[in-house]
Amino acid sequence: MLAGAGALAAASLVPLASRAAPRGADAAIVLRASSGRARLAGPDRPDTEIWGYGGRVPGPPVVVTQGEEVYARLVNDLPQPTTIHWHGVRLDNAMDGVPDLTQAAVAPGARFDYRFRPPDAGSFWYHPHELASEQMGRGLYGPLIVQERIPPPADQDLLVLLDDWRLDRQGRIDTGFGDLHDAAHMGRLGNVLTINGAREFAIRARARERIRLRLFNVANARIMGLRLSDHEPVIVAIDGQPVAPRAPRNATVVLAPGQRADVLMDMVHLPGKTAPLMIILEDGEVEIGKIIYHAYDLARDDPLPAVAALPPNLAATPFSAGDARRAEIVMQGGAMGRFRDTSMYKGERFDRAGLIEQGQVWTFNGTAALPKQPLFAVRRGEPVAILFRNDTRWPHAMHVHGHHFRELDSEGSVSPVWHDTVLIGPTESRTVALVADNPGKWLIHCHMIEHHAAGMATWFSVGV
Ligand code: C2O
Ligand code: CU
Repeated sequence: MLAGAGALAAASLVPLASRAAPRGADAAIVLRASSGRARLAGPDRPDTEIWGYGGRVPGPPVVVTQGEEVYARLVNDLPQPTTIHWHGVRLDNAMDGVPDLTQAAVAPGARFDYRFRPPDAGSFWYHPHELASEQMGRGLYGPLIVQERIPPPADQDLLVLLDDWRLDRQGRIDTGFGDLHDAAHMGRLGNVLTINGAREFAIRARARERIRLRLFNVANARIMGLRLSDHEPVIVAIDGQPVAPRAPRNATVVLAPGQRADVLMDMVHLPGKTAPLMIILEDGEVEIGKIIYHAYDLARDDPLPAVAALPPNLAATPFSAGDARRAEIVMQGGAMGRFRDTSMYKGERFDRAGLIEQGQVWTFNGTAALPKQPLFAVRRGEPVAILFRNDTRWPHAMHVHGHHFRELDSEGSVSPVWHDTVLIGPTESRTVALVADNPGKWLIHCHMIEHHAAGMATWFSVGV
C-alpha cells in the first residue's frame, strides 16, 4: 500500500515539474514581466495583447519542494515600475515585494532577485504589488507551488487559475484602469472568464484516478466558485494550509480574490463519462469546460482509500485571547457607504469630496491608504487579535502579509482553519487571531485590488 502510494505521488510530480521554468542548480528562474499574447477574445478573433511573466499568462509555475529555496529574478520589461509579491508565503520581509514598505519598486529595464525558503508546503502565487490593478488586470500572475516532501497520492496534479478579464469591443484589454466607479463598487469586474489564461479547460482522466486540483482566484475583484459537477471533491488545504478533509457544498469551491484551495477528487464514474465544469458567479453560472473520462481505460482495479489529511505546516497552538494585543480595522466608504466628516490621506485631512478628488473612496479607521504609523507595533511572538468591522455595503477579501491567521469567535475560541485572506461580507464583523512571529513591516489590505488602490490598506510592524 505504502509503496503504491509513493509511486503514485512520484508520477504526480511530473506534470508540474515539467511545466516549471528551466533552471540550473544555482540559477534563478527568470520572471520577465513583458507583453505577450493570449487567446482571450474567442476562437475566431485575434489574440489579445497581455502582460505576463515570460509574456505568458499564467506565468511559469515556480515549483520547489518544502525546504528548498526559491530563487527568482524579476526582469522588468514593462513601461512602468513593478515588484513581485509572493502571496501567502511566510517569508523574509525584504522579499515581500511591497513598494515603500519592503523595497523600492523595480524601474523599467531594471531587475530584482528574490531569494527565500518558503516554510510551508502548499499552493501559493505571485503577482505585482505596484500598480497592481493594471498589472494584474493585464495578466501578471503565476503559481508558486511548494511540494510536500511526501505528496498525497494523486495521479495528476493540476493547476486551475481562475481569472476574470475586462475586454473592449475589439477584444483588447479595456484600459479604464483606476476607474473610480469600479473602485467604489465591487472593483474591476470583467466580461471574460478564463482558467489558466484560456476560455476552455478540460480535466482529462481515467476512471478511478485521483486528481489533485490546485484552485486559485487570481481575479482583480470577482468572487468565483468552481463546480465540479457530478463529483465529490474534497478540500484538503485552504490558502496553502492543510485542513481536515471536507466536502464543499454542491461540489462547488468558492474563492474570493487571492484565496486558494487544494482539492482531491476521485474519478468515480465509468469510462466514457463527461461532466460539465461550471464557474459559479453571484448572478449566474458559465460552463468553462468539461471533466472527460477516457473512453475505456481504468486507472486501477479498486478505488483508492478515502482521502487523508495532509500533514500540517502550522501547529494548532492554543491562542489565549485574553493575552492578545487588540487591534481594530473599521472599514468605511464606497458606494452607498458611510464616510466620516473628514478622513486622512497622506497626512492631510479631506472631506468626502476632497478624498474622492484624490482617487480615494475607502478608509480603514478614517484613513485612506497607508498611514505613517502602523496599526500596531508588537514584539516578535506576541499574540494579536484583529477585529475587522465591515461598515460598508460591499464584501472585502482581507489579506494579511507574512502571516497566517485563524478566526476567533465571540467566546474566544479559535477555528482550526488557517487563512491568509478572509472574505468579510457587508456589515459583517470578524476577529482573526495571529501570532506576530515574522519580523518586519507587513501590509493588511483588501484583495479586491481596486479597493486597495482606492484606500483599503494599512500595515503593522513586528520587532526582531
Ligand atoms: Cu496577493 Cu498584498 O497580496
Ligand atoms: Cu474590498
